Amino acid sequence: MTFDVFDTLQGNLTVNLEKMAKVVNAGLPLTAIFFGVLGYYVSFYFHFATVTFILITGINFIYRHVQKQHALLANFGIVAQMRYMIESIGPEMRQYLFASDTEEKPFTRVERSEVYRKAKGIDSSSAFGSQLLFNDMEIKLRHSMFPQPKENLKPYALHFGEERNLKNTYTLKHPVIISAMSYGALGQNAVRALARGAKRAGIPMNTGEGGYPKYHLMEECDLIFQIGTAKFGVRNEDGTLNEQKLKEVAALPQVKMIEIKLSQGAKPGKGGLLPKEKITPEISELRGVPMGQDVISPPFHPECQTPESTVQFIQKVQQISELPVGIKLCLGREDEFLKLVQTMKAKNCFPDYITIDGGEGGTGAAPKSFLD
Ligand SMILES: Cc1cc2nc3c(=O)[nH]c(=O)nc-3n(C[C@H](O)[C@H](O)[C@H](O)COP(=O)(O)O)c2cc1C
Repeated sequence: MTFDVFDTLQGNLTVNLEKMAKVVNAGLPLTAIFFGVLGYYVSFYFHFATVTFILITGINFIYRHVQKQHALLANFGIVAQMRYMIESIGPEMRQYLFASDTEEKPFTRVERSEVYRKAKGIDSSSAFGSQLLFNDMEIKLRHSMFPQPKENLKPYALHFGEERNLKNTYTLKHPVIISAMSYGALGQNAVRALARGAKRAGIPMNTGEGGYPKYHLMEECDLIFQIGTAKFGVRNEDGTLNEQKLKEVAALPQVKMIEIKLSQGAKPGKGGLLPKEKITPEISELRGVPMGQDVISPPFHPECQTPESTVQFIQKVQQISELPVGIKLCLGREDEFLKLVQTMKAKNCFPDYITIDGGEGGTGAAPKSFLD
């Protein structure tokens, strides 16, 4: 008899069920005898264990030699019963421990909890993006038949503002930036960690629409300052653009470009509400909003209601900031975008770049149905 119930197969530890069953089948009567001896010589109470093991040995005998229905029980005895027991609690184990939140059918955990929350009137806003699969979105690496040695590759450089003969042009040295994520959606540790990473990697970080970039500035990376529809950080009390404040932000040496956010993929047609409970003295200062009252982010810039007024607004921000100015939008209707571009052409006024947001729902907070 061997006690080696684990086998090392190509370095992997695997359970050898056959050996384990042999050990258990021989071990059961031996254990019953062992407790019988203890019960006889040491204390009568050991006989409780003796009886238990005699019963289990009997059941094991029936499994192996009497019943003919279950091959597993006949081959392995009571050890195989463990398999049936585990199998019987499999659905619960999978549901609670192993199944991902999106894989169950017909309703996934994500869908069910959304319904529960809605039914209980609990806010179902969530952050960071939809959990649904967007299969054709993976980044794919394609083979080249003629690969180039590294020395032959030209360093990456993308210039912004050159076409307008700007004094303050900006050059992206790597094809990577950190997307807009506002302070508020992210805490100060996250903002500072990302900003520090951006500095080390030599890439810019978009501040998001969270207002004055106090924590971003601490880490000295290049910044793209974003103007959201509420114009946090550069707003007048009524939510319109405060030109003086924009001038001051644009004059910060770390702020290299400005981005006007027209729309975001995660929230089609939706603005936002900053509830008064979330407005701390710091948020009030950085965002330029009063304490004690809710602040509404409109779904669009009041200045940008037509292609003409949108182009005018871009031009205005370009003139005030004297920096490259981009726009960010999620492309909903091609004809609208075409009109915007035609208007830009007619007025000879273009943004210095355009960020196209995907529809995959990355956000700080949006209702789940919008995310999906
Ligand atoms: C926590 C968080 C906060 C965000 N805040 C902003 C924001 O302030 N302004 C904005 O335009 N987009 C914001 N976004 C959206 C991202 O900039 C980006 O458009 C979105 O995540 C999709 O891009 P991705 O696929 O690279 O994540 C936020 C996203 C996240 C996850």
